[in-house]
Amino acid sequence: MAKLTLLTTLFAVISKTLAALPNHKIRGVNLGSFFIVEPWMSSQTWKSMGCGNAKSEWDCVASLGQERADTAFQKHWDTFITAEDFDKMKEYGLNTVRIPVGHWFVEETIAPGENWPRGGMKYLDKVVGLAGSHNISVILDLHGAPGVQAPNNAFTGHTTENTGFYSPDNYNRACTFLRNMTERIHTHDQYKTTFILEVLNEPEPNHASLISSCYPKAYTTIRSTESSLSIPESHALTIQMMSSAWGAGNPLHSLPNSTFNLALDTHRYLTYSSIPPTKADYLNASCGDTFPSEENNKPLIIGEWSLAVKQEKEWSDEFSPTRKENHGWYRRWWAAQVRAYEKQKGWVFWSWKTELGGDWRWSYKEAVEVGVIPKDFSKVGEMAEC
Ligand SMILES: *[C@@H]1O[C@H](CO)[C@@H](O)[C@H](O)[C@H]1NC(C)=O
Ligand SMILES: *[C@@H]1O[C@H](CO)[C@@H](O)[C@H](O)[C@H]1NC(C)=O
Ligand SMILES: *[C@@H]1O[C@H](CO)[C@@H](O)[C@H](O)[C@H]1NC(C)=O
Ligand SMILES: *[C@@H]1O[C@H](CO)[C@@H](O)[C@H](O)[C@H]1NC(C)=O
Repeated sequence: MAKLTLLTTLFAVISKTLAALPNHKIRGVNLGSFFIVEPWMSSQTWKSMGCGNAKSEWDCVASLGQERADTAFQKHWDTFITAEDFDKMKEYGLNTVRIPVGHWFVEETIAPGENWPRGGMKYLDKVVGLAGSHNISVILDLHGAPGVQAPNNAFTGHTTENTGFYSPDNYNRACTFLRNMTERIHTHDQYKTTFILEVLNEPEPNHASLISSCYPKAYTTIRSTESSLSIPESHALTIQMMSSAWGAGNPLHSLPNSTFNLALDTHRYLTYSSIPPTKADYLNASCGDTFPSEENNKPLIIGEWSLAVKQEKEWSDEFSPTRKENHGWYRRWWAAQVRAYEKQKGWVFWSWKTELGGDWRWSYKEAVEVGVIPKDFSKVGEMAEC
């Protein structure tokens, strides 16, 4: 038994083909609404799962009951993203997927009385395996944290005002999730292209204990799990946190003194910015976009962005995606954003696939299909016309 474990560990170390962070630029898409469904972007899926008017997964599980919910969610996980999607990503020149998951995928982190769908790990294994067999890198992202980290947002899995995450108990639960995933990534061959573990998506600002306690604990948990598996530093995971631009503080502030393989994440949604919503202003903003490196020049990935404009203007003549004459501008803006983000470590678009009735501004796949996003990256610099 002991011998077998040693062999398995040895094999896992040898079979990891990627170094911590690849040299190439990250060009990726988020698998949004897959392991955490967001009704606004996937209304048909939501309906077909029987979730009706539920605002988030938590409410849907509560209304369906555990057993029916598990059946509905498992069917979704089994069918929403397939090998064909990965074939297309490859064809479109993408090399990375960011996979948002909830802590409830590691079921020992589910507290009694919590309404989470069960049985997800097998489907996560399957999809990272597909990424691996397509040589597509994976960023695994703790998107729904124990107790909920951001208010009134379906992306956490539970739309509620209460952000209970910021407590020692829930930090422990998050670390249980991270320990499990670290071990799984290093010992299951499906995870051979999984190279980043992101410890938390989009925290609420101004929780001092996040910086002083949660992040150091998360870092140490991942590294000590790797030590116990004898993973050499050259194969250690890259650990990612939201940058201080996110407003929650400098994530590196209280980490141990000797850290390695860190990366940062920031999200750039011009739709939610104060930039005046005109074509010229958006383009100018993206052309001149910069990311001050407050955090010791760690690699920065723009882990979420889209082609959406300010909501009031979305369907105006100037911006309507159904008017062909606007496509050229969207193409330039896409290129300007790509150019700016590739001055950093790269980017991950939100999202791959949506059900927004032909509004391709949140769907990389659809934007390629309508000809706004090209498959060839070689002319991005010129296309931006900055
Ligand atoms: C990790 O979580 C999965 C899903 O809950 C579970 O099946 C597995 O046993 C856990 N692994 C460890 C090492 O605890
Ligand atoms: C995997 O993809 C990377 C770039 O994304 C490339 O450098 C590497 O050669 C590829 N490996 C294989 C086995 O195709
Ligand atoms: C880390 O370094 C700082 C400054 O050099 C020092 O004050 C601190 O005690 C060190 N912390 C640890 C945990 O070694
Ligand atoms: C263009 O963006 C830059 C910042 O990148 C800003 O300083 C400048 O004022 C903008 N120009 C116009 C015309 O809006």
